[in-house]
Amino acid sequence: MSYWSWDSSLSVGVEVIDGQHRRILDYINELDVARSSNDREKVSEVLMGLVDYTRTHFAFEEDMMKQAGYPLSVSHKRVHDAFVAHIDNYAVQHESGKDVTRKLMSELQIWLTNHIQNDDRDYAPYASKILNKSWLTRTLGKFFG
Ligand SMILES: [Fe+2]
Ligand SMILES: [Fe+2]
Repeated sequence: MSYWSWDSSLSVGVEVIDGQHRRILDYINELDVARSSNDREKVSEVLMGLVDYTRTHFAFEEDMMKQAGYPLSVSHKRVHDAFVAHIDNYAVQHESGKDVTRKLMSELQIWLTNHIQNDDRDYAPYASKILNKSWLTRTLGKFFG
């Protein structure tokens, strides 16, 4: 059983975004596996991947919101920035030898559920307007390429 399974209550109705959110959930599940096997090195590795992927996802969303003319893109970015600072702090605590993984996972789950179901879902109708194949290829390449 994985720690957290994706279900349709987490869908924002935008395929590319749902895919990125699923990848973040996968990271959290990988973190759980590393944690339960007491593999500190693996925990560090997954944690770094999670932070990095989350930053890239946020940057992708921010660019998409801006290009789509979403009126709340600035405040949405502020929420992302505060959250990145928060998880960075957890990563630092982990590196200093503290066991914060479990607490981080449960906070991530609560924060992400709330953020996806409210903030992310709110931009979805705007995003749908600019989402087409050429836009996607260009923008995915810019951030994930
Ligand atoms: Fe998101
Ligand atoms: Fe977001």
